[in-house]
Amino acid sequence: MAGETLLLVGNGGREGAIAEAIADSAFPPDVLYYTGANVGIDGLADRRMQVMQVDCDIKNVQGIVDAAKSIPSDPQKLTVVVGPEAPLVAGAADRLRGEGIHVFGPSAEAAKLEGSKIFATKFMRENRIAHPGTMILESRAEAEKYLLTADPESIVLKADGLAGGKGVVLPKTREEMMKVAQDMLSGEAFDGAGKAGILVQERLTGPEVSVFVVADGRGGYSIIPYFAQDHKRLEEGDKGPNTGGMGAYSPLPDGYLTEKQLAGIEDIVQKTIEGMEKRGTPYQGTLYLGLMMAEQRAGAPVVIEYNCRFGDPEAQVVLPLMTRNGLDVYDMFYSTARGEAPAMRPARHLGGSALTVTLAAAGYPGKPATGAVIHGLDHTYPNTQIYHGGTKRINEQTIITNGGRVLYVTGMGRDVDEAAAAAYAAIGGPDGIYFEGMQVRDDIGHRIRKHS
Ligand code: AMP
Ligand code: GLY
Repeated sequence: MAGETLLLVGNGGREGAIAEAIADSAFPPDVLYYTGANVGIDGLADRRMQVMQVDCDIKNVQGIVDAAKSIPSDPQKLTVVVGPEAPLVAGAADRLRGEGIHVFGPSAEAAKLEGSKIFATKFMRENRIAHPGTMILESRAEAEKYLLTADPESIVLKADGLAGGKGVVLPKTREEMMKVAQDMLSGEAFDGAGKAGILVQERLTGPEVSVFVVADGRGGYSIIPYFAQDHKRLEEGDKGPNTGGMGAYSPLPDGYLTEKQLAGIEDIVQKTIEGMEKRGTPYQGTLYLGLMMAEQRAGAPVVIEYNCRFGDPEAQVVLPLMTRNGLDVYDMFYSTARGEAPAMRPARHLGGSALTVTLAAAGYPGKPATGAVIHGLDHTYPNTQIYHGGTKRINEQTIITNGGRVLYVTGMGRDVDEAAAAAYAAIGGPDGIYFEGMQVRDDIGHRIRKHS
């Protein structure tokens, strides 16, 4: 649109999916600026919008504000979209709004839903939102006393603050439970996330669902009509260590959730948005609800976690599905940042499924190997979109691995089996994408695929 610009904060696979969906808008901005490097986002430059990288350390809120202010654009026509949680928890959206800039992303107070699990627990208690039974423990003495009689396999330990996805532990033994609790509270392990306290939660079982809500900070909100599931474990059969996510898919099959469960989800969303308004900290941006249909609650949805951003890799399936069904993602960011959440009725009813497979580096989720040459990126693969996470271009022909989760291959199809077939056809040598030491799960979608 004439004179419109967008600054996208972040440069991982999620932001790759955000950028691609913006490029696919009916009326994209003239220029998309983004922080850091991303080979995939760079590759969008020949579309109807320009793409420019700005150097900015997103850990530094002032750096983000400076980057936004340096954009040569009518400030009213600039929209800032913040992808990751850390800058939001650190107050990036507040500072930008303070400069009169339109932002898609919650204030620091609202981002506490992700930034502090103690806060989120108290909020859910006050607003009668279903969550697992939780004890908040703020000191080592308190923890030792409480855990003395706890059964390790019936509880979950959670560090209060942001821990880059590592702050949740399901202990197997008493020794592990005690050690993890102490490590969390010491503030030395888990990125210091347990320093202010830990949660001991009742361990629940049941299917998990990721739900994304877009809220405009003025009471308006829409539930994105594509629910997702991800695979957090490294190995097939959902075994091995936890990761940032080895794959995801959307939507869930018809009938996967009962009408009662759907109503329960709507109720949780409404209470959350209203509860934040009542506190005087209205929510603006994406609210991600990690829900479990808990067997211990007759299958009713329970909030396992709130996040203040899109999921990664859930964005890599939800956003292309929105585009495919005529929901304009740039319009969603633009309007929501200006206080008006768009209605989320799909404009077209193409339906379809998306499934993404993460290509991870050797050594991930520990210390990933870098520098492997990636083959197969110069081919085109039908019904797929490829998003870059940890990659680096070293010359015109060569792209190498440069992080843990290297690439995401999203397949699209009429159903999840077709989507999986499209994604997997693009993965693995000699005809697909591969690099030395590549770790890929062969069974993404197994919970809902008919032919896995
Ligand atoms: P998170 O790092 O918050 O995404 O949590 C990681 C995973 O831990 C979740 O996706 C769940 O599978 C599991 N989890 C978290 N809380 C509980 C709980 N109270 N009961 C059972 N599993 C849980
Ligand atoms: N895929 C899980 C997350 O983004 O937290």
